[in-house]
Amino acid sequence: MNVHKGLILDETAKFHQDAQDTRPFVPGTTEIWPAGAVLDERDRTALVEAALEMRIAAGPSSRRFESRFARKLGHRKAHLTNSGSSANLLAMTAFTSHLLEDRRLRPGDEVITVAAGFPTTVNPIIQNGLVPVFVDVELGTYNTTAERVARAIGPKTRAIMIAHALGNPFEVAEIAQLAQEHDLFLIEDNCDAVGSTYDGKLTGTFGDITTVSFYPAHHLTMGEGGCVLTSNLALARIVESLRDWGRDCWCEPGETNKCLKRFNYQMGTLPEGYDHKYIFSHVGYNLKATDIQAALGLTQLDKLDGFCDARRRNWRRLRDGLDGVPYLILPEATPRSDPSWFGFALTVDPEAPYSRAALVDFLEGRKIGTRRLFAGNLTRHPAYIDQPHRIVGDLTNSDVITDQTFWIGVYPALTEEMLDYVISSVKEFVGGHA
Ligand SMILES: Cc1ncc(COP(=O)(O)O)c(C=O)c1O
Repeated sequence: MNVHKGLILDETAKFHQDAQDTRPFVPGTTEIWPAGAVLDERDRTALVEAALEMRIAAGPSSRRFESRFARKLGHRKAHLTNSGSSANLLAMTAFTSHLLEDRRLRPGDEVITVAAGFPTTVNPIIQNGLVPVFVDVELGTYNTTAERVARAIGPKTRAIMIAHALGNPFEVAEIAQLAQEHDLFLIEDNCDAVGSTYDGKLTGTFGDITTVSFYPAHHLTMGEGGCVLTSNLALARIVESLRDWGRDCWCEPGETNKCLKRFNYQMGTLPEGYDHKYIFSHVGYNLKATDIQAALGLTQLDKLDGFCDARRRNWRRLRDGLDGVPYLILPEATPRSDPSWFGFALTVDPEAPYSRAALVDFLEGRKIGTRRLFAGNLTRHPAYIDQPHRIVGDLTNSDVITDQTFWIGVYPALTEEMLDYVISSVKEFVGGHA
């Protein structure tokens, strides 16, 4: 290693040690965040090393991350993106590709999704001129059911796009079965559920395509970032084209003529031999990430199993500690699942003698961070009211979530002391309102 680089990386490691917050936990003063990145010395030095080497665009680290991550999540192909939302956009848009011929989705086709969740699970449906069909979710699991999805299937239904809520798998085997029976595409938004299993199998491996987010709140982080994964090589090729400006060529940007046919193509009405690097077969985007992000992703990936274990442990401690607290609906894992939890959802029973707002205020006053179950009922937001959509059944539980639900953290940096303080704080508040 270059001597200067070695020195800089050694100093970076020392800087990392100096930068650690070694102050003891002080209840009511120390922030208990609902989520956050968990970054160690290796993460910091990997980032500095990538910067020193000026790996500023997508390149070898991105490719290495993609192949390691695909293997880890049980897929043949992974495509790194600049966010989980971009990954969702690519996943949905892939099904509109002309390369799918008769099976491609066309404007006006319907896609079944849930009303209560994160907006960018739904936005790609609308952005592609497709029509979201909203179904309700259950309280406790915060997922919809195969039965609700089955009821929503109509003559225009062509796909299903649903997120595993806060890490808790939806009934994905049953919903994948429905998709197969009705010839529908299934997109699993796995942004919050990396490492979760259903029937012993990883979420994200039941549908046609799946997505992950690497924003700091998620199971592993690159700062910003996301990924589209699939084992369908035709879909992977479409995703790559859409991600990389819509180009037809599959060479890396720095490569030239790897296929030895670069000047031998004739496509569209272009002249024979037009440079394949500049032939565009999709109306694409540029949603790539950089090697600096991928360098961090690679060191984070080594820790993924430990992160998932910690999330499970922390969730279990909260669940056991809060069991039986009056008027609180506690989270439940979907039967036959083992969630790698994103957060710990609490719903204040509408009949409770206290309000969600008062409980949240009390916790926030003690520096215990809370978050909403994202949008709550998305159909009530200004952005969606005038968008064409269909609602099947009622959205009663989505409305309850909008009014009564919030979540607290289970991320790996939380200590037992912090979690016990969260538990005692909730109990103290509820005890005072019995
Ligand atoms: C279920 C779900 N899907 C998609 C996203 C979007 O990910 P990103 O913030 O990386 O765009 C999020 C973000 O938290 C999410 O929770």
